[in-house]
Amino acid sequence: MTDVTAAGRDKMPHHLAIIMDGNGRWAKARMLPRLMGHRKGAETVRMVVDECSKLGIGYLTLFAFSAENWSRPMSEVSALMNLLKKYIRMEVPRMMRDNVRFNVIGNRNDLPEDVRAELEDAITTTAGNTGLTLTLALSYGARQEIVHAAGLLAVDVAAGKVDPATVTERDFARYLYTSGLPDPDLLIRTSGEMRISNFLLWQLAYAELYFTDINWPDFSRQELLKAIADFQSRERRFGLTGEQLKARG
Ligand code: FPP
Repeated sequence: MTDVTAAGRDKMPHHLAIIMDGNGRWAKARMLPRLMGHRKGAETVRMVVDECSKLGIGYLTLFAFSAENWSRPMSEVSALMNLLKKYIRMEVPRMMRDNVRFNVIGNRNDLPEDVRAELEDAITTTAGNTGLTLTLALSYGARQEIVHAAGLLAVDVAAGKVDPATVTERDFARYLYTSGLPDPDLLIRTSGEMRISNFLLWQLAYAELYFTDINWPDFSRQELLKAIADFQSRERRFGLTGEQLKARG
């Protein structure tokens, strides 16, 4: 069985990001309604959050609902929103038990009022926790995020608070929804699709990408450990040569 070795724990990704894909196909293959795929997918979310907590991963960011997902049939959108609300309500006690800090990125204003209230409650309740930071990307699109950040920066420039000539990458990143989060080290996408799909375009610049054919509802603890073991076997060079990296130790 694939497992993360004791030595491997030193090279654990600090920030894991996941594009959870294939709920619909999982359901279709079983002649079930799509909602059943999302429900089973929510169980996988619970397992992955638990595992990441246990493995000591600092940050887990899940793509739960894209800005483009609003165009799905209304019945699916509202089923997903309901599922999300129920999940948050049920999981907050567990997050408190496991020291998980809950966070959301994306355009919260698009979300229904009751969902937003539930999310904000979970964020406030878990704000003092110091273990895993669980971030859900909701009504999220990376291009939208970058445009939004540029707008905020422009306001600060117009107000004379920022000199545009001196803006660094680090300065710009503070205007993104992910301000305060480190960049992901590893991105996993399930269901065999090999795309980024407008997810964390800025933040994934140096991430290792891992694709698996498994649909999200079937993604297991073993699959997660396999992805992490694969990450641990890679040499991350950040533009340097292998020799330069060795010399740095
Ligand atoms: C992609 O599968 C998945 C989504 C659009 C939603 C993700 C939602 C969940 C995993 C469940 C609820 C989330 C939480 C955090 C409780 P798809 O529907 O695009 O699958 P398909 O490509 O096979 O149709």
